Amino acid sequence: MATLGEIDVLVSEVGPRDGLQSIRRAMPTAVKQRWITALAAAGLREIEVGSFVSPKLLPQMADTEEVVRAARTVDGLTVLALAPNLKGAERGIAASVHKLSFPVSASREHSMANIRMAPEQAIDQVRQAVDLCKTLPADRRPSVEVGISTAFGCAVEGRVSEDWVMQMAAALAKVGAESVGLSDTAGCANPVQVKRMFLRLRRELGGKAGAAHFHNTRGQGLANVVAALDAGVDTFDASQGGLGGCPYAPGATGNIVTEDLVFLLESMGLRTGIDLERLIAARAIILEGLPGEPLYGNVPDAGLPKGFSYAATGGD
Ligand code: COA
Ligand code: ZN
Repeated sequence: MATLGEIDVLVSEVGPRDGLQSIRRAMPTAVKQRWITALAAAGLREIEVGSFVSPKLLPQMADTEEVVRAARTVDGLTVLALAPNLKGAERGIAASVHKLSFPVSASREHSMANIRMAPEQAIDQVRQAVDLCKTLPADRRPSVEVGISTAFGCAVEGRVSEDWVMQMAAALAKVGAESVGLSDTAGCANPVQVKRMFLRLRRELGGKAGAAHFHNTRGQGLANVVAALDAGVDTFDASQGGLGGCPYAPGATGNIVTEDLVFLLESMGLRTGIDLERLIAARAIILEGLPGEPLYGNVPDAGLPKGFSYAATGGD
């Protein structure tokens, strides 16, 4: 579990990675940098700023080195980037990310389509990345986190065995991943399944049980968050405006909306450290970089309700 200090739940923004990777046109680098700075100023402490994947496959992520370098100058911000393989890890290390996040898919078919590797090979890439990181001095050593993609089901394969997901999680912890979370890449999870699997993950991995990553494809995202909270999860990925999807998971829409997640948590008395008004204002920057892009979120549309107060103020 994360060390959270004066917050109760860590909201990890993944819009600049999960969101932008699914939009064909690229957000200009300078706008990405301003967006990330604005998110941090709104109180986001951790942002996945890009992806060290093949620039031929995803040209929108080709500027990740530059984006990481700029994000590293933002005070107090933990800078994450995705790496699909050892080469991605090497690029991340060279750019000085704080954390590398590896997507390791439980579905064999999704894994092959997404990174052209079987799950076992992907686990081995994580092992090699961890071993490489261990050779670095502590101040230049990123931590390696894993999100198990398609953990709740796959758009291509359908059902995914829970036992297999847990076996993978244990193997990933064993090769040295610092935390292993579960991702609903296809947006097919339900709250009962979410609670059961995260409870099981904690039993299997203890302190290495990681974040919940939900897509809102079927409108279950925030219900799944409440179920994961019940199972003790304290870190949630989300993307501003619900940007997102997965280019290799047909039908997957955006992540849960950061603005709505923060509202949910704060209303429930859980401190996030995030200022909703400043967060909502940052949406304008997305539209500067991607004019006309649809942005989602009920809270930004409806506004904050009369009498709303943040958890830190004691609710009243
Ligand atoms: N970053 C940049 N370039 C990379 C790379 C990386 N992480 N990994 C491989 N490459 C390059 C190789 O250097 C090689 O370049 P060359 O053709 O100029 O020699 C080329 O890509 C092919 O390398 P190979 O190892 O055979 O990779 P591949 O073609 O099997 O592709 C991945 C594997 C993982 C790089 C690719 O499938 C990928 O980027 N997938 C990510 C998809 C994604 O982002 N999904 C959403 C996130 S969950
Ligand atoms: Zn995702």
